[in-house]
Amino acid sequence: MFVSDLLAGKRFLITGGGSGLGKMMARKICQLGGSVSLCGRREQVLQETADGINGEFANRVTWHRLDIRDPEAVDAVVDAVWDEGPLDGLINNAAGNFLARTETISHRAMDAVVNIVLHGTAYMTLACGKKWIADKRPGNVLSIVTTYAWTGSAYVVPSAMGKAAVLAMTRSLAVEWGPKGIRLNAIAPGPFPTEGAWQRLVPTKKLADVWEQRNPLGRTGEHDELMNLVAYLLSDQSGYINGDVVTIDGGEWLAGAGQFNFAKMLSDDEWESITPTKK
Ligand code: HXC
Repeated sequence: MFVSDLLAGKRFLITGGGSGLGKMMARKICQLGGSVSLCGRREQVLQETADGINGEFANRVTWHRLDIRDPEAVDAVVDAVWDEGPLDGLINNAAGNFLARTETISHRAMDAVVNIVLHGTAYMTLACGKKWIADKRPGNVLSIVTTYAWTGSAYVVPSAMGKAAVLAMTRSLAVEWGPKGIRLNAIAPGPFPTEGAWQRLVPTKKLADVWEQRNPLGRTGEHDELMNLVAYLLSDQSGYINGDVVTIDGGEWLAGAGQFNFAKMLSDDEWESITPTKK
């Protein structure tokens, strides 16, 4: 879809970059000529991902162990990343989530998710923003949110609270930092299957089947469809998009929202029987 040097010379930091969608983003960036620094909590996972991509694209990936819930560690890692060379963009991909009845979760469970999704994302964005502003360099922040950042969702309440805050941060800082050459956008993906998300969010076959099949397009997303959107928003080609959230979900959230969407249950015969006959 893109010229092969779309991201040539650009350098990005990806949180939660060792596995799942973060790992795919790292590979896509390298395939398009860019380089990445990954951060995450598991050293072995980061090392294996970096080795795999470096084997394909020759030394474009570095990594740092980091729990983004720790603001001092965030500042130290962002300093270390900048010592390797300034960044062009930050991808706030790391998240925490689980499916639970909200009245059963402890305050530690609430904190575990909100501290990753909201606080960790804010610490990363602040640390990079301060560097870009001090260096008078342009910056690009892309945050992965969800459609329930604006609809809310039962059974994932800490995540919904955190993602709504990340969207508010994106829209607020787009205006505050836009004049400094820093733009901020978000992507709200629908169901793009990864082992981690599926284990945590649709742990039974029944749940997974419903999530996959209720989509208006009748399928889950192809990873490449999401990666192409990520690449576009990271590139200078999207330079006038600032403060927006792009939904890529096959129409999933609208399917749950439209007042008469439930009429999908009618058969063709039933439609005929309620349609006035033409004269
Ligand atoms: C209830 C739970 C729970 C569950 C953990 N807890 N899992 N409570 N139901 N399923 C509680 C624990 O009992 C504990 O509380 C507290 O949460 C902290 O748990 P720890 O395991 O000690 O914390 P930690 O190791 O920091 O793990 C954080 C985590 C974990 C968020 C709970 O799931 C994690 O690390 N996730 C990272 C990756 C991730 O979640 N990815 C999914 C992103 S998918 P007590 O009181 O017992 O001490 C996503 C996309 C959504 O966000 C949109 C899809 C379209």
